[in-house]
Amino acid sequence: MMGQQQRPGAMRQGGAEPDSGEHRVVTPRARTEDASGERSLRPKRLAEYVGQDRVKTHLGIIIEAAKARNEPLDHVLLYGPPGLGKTTLASIVAAEMNVSLRITAGPAIERQGDLVSILTNLKSGDVLFIDEIHRLNRVIEEVLYPAMEDFAVDIVIGKGPAARTMRINLPRFTLVGATTRLALLTGPLRDRFGAVLRLDFYDLEAMCEIVARSARILEVELADEGARAVALRSRGTPRVANRLLKRVRDFAEVRREGVITAEVADDALTMLDVDALGLDDTDRRILRSIVDKFDGGPVGVDTLAAATSEETDTIMDVYEPYLIQLGFLQRTPRGRIATPRAYAHLGLAVPAHATALASGAVQTTLLDDA
Ligand SMILES: Nc1ncnc2c1ncn2[C@@H]1O[C@H](COP(=O)(O)OP(=O)(O)OP(=O)(O)O)[C@@H](O)[C@H]1O
Ligand SMILES: [Mg+2]
Repeated sequence: MMGQQQRPGAMRQGGAEPDSGEHRVVTPRARTEDASGERSLRPKRLAEYVGQDRVKTHLGIIIEAAKARNEPLDHVLLYGPPGLGKTTLASIVAAEMNVSLRITAGPAIERQGDLVSILTNLKSGDVLFIDEIHRLNRVIEEVLYPAMEDFAVDIVIGKGPAARTMRINLPRFTLVGATTRLALLTGPLRDRFGAVLRLDFYDLEAMCEIVARSARILEVELADEGARAVALRSRGTPRVANRLLKRVRDFAEVRREGVITAEVADDALTMLDVDALGLDDTDRRILRSIVDKFDGGPVGVDTLAAATSEETDTIMDVYEPYLIQLGFLQRTPRGRIATPRAYAHLGLAVPAHATALASGAVQTTLLDDA
């Protein structure tokens, strides 16, 4: 048998494993160290959930309406970069609806039977959360169509000519799906969600509030300016904010009197190689690679991944969204380009062609691009 088909970005010289970036202190993906305090830090009700006002309002309305009608909530799809609070919102939805939450993830469901058994074990009104729903196998996904639409699954009994299908009715449940890559979802699946909600990076004000809230829960003494310093470097991402806060707390306890001032936060984060905008060495290496190796771009994402020894998926899910948010990188139909702002941040002179490229670029939407 032939080996698995490889994407161009997956092939590398020297056989070195591409980097998934998990070791970074600023990665928005979950790390083991995040588990400490996670339970207490995670908001449990909608009112505690800071920021994302658009999403909060929308959810608040449909929850209230469903409760008034005494019906289960419509299926909800949440999408956005890692660490912004999708899993948190799923558990909030269950709490606000006063029902139980069942959690699973796309890659964890290996056979149709696995999903059928999860579905048939739900109770009326339950919330089923499927994380990374874009990674659900297509064949398995088909089980979801009648489940979401008609609250039923069709199972095949027997083999060959004697085989027949039987329909099993399910309790009325609510599916909450989460994905970092909306574009990878099939049309039929996407269309079956009553509400499709995008989570954005948090603004500075919300980030300051999240840092202050976490500090209160962790009983860390934090000055307002200290909260701001941590918030500024947290990439608009609560998960990163909580992690940086814990690191800064350690630094404050060992090196200072335990109080997190702006100076303590800045010193600690600089020591951790997180710059004033929350960028670390890998972000800068990606930008430098576009600038140095590809003359500012455009460069295809697979080529960029190969040149930086990162995984294509990691670049698309983890690095790019924030670099785009900062206006340092643009996605164009022909590839990624570095903007004049990126040159400036790297302390480089802006070449004329970079300005021309950036102004002529047709931006594709951040998250809707596969
Ligand atoms: N709105 C918020 N207010 C306060 N804290 C938040 C908020 N959103 C998320 N957090 C904190 O950030 C952490 C990460 O959030 P969560 O696990 O929900 O992210 P996610 O979007 O599910 O990430 P992933 O894509 O990796 O699954 C949570 O543990 C929680 O403490
Ligand atoms: Mg999650």
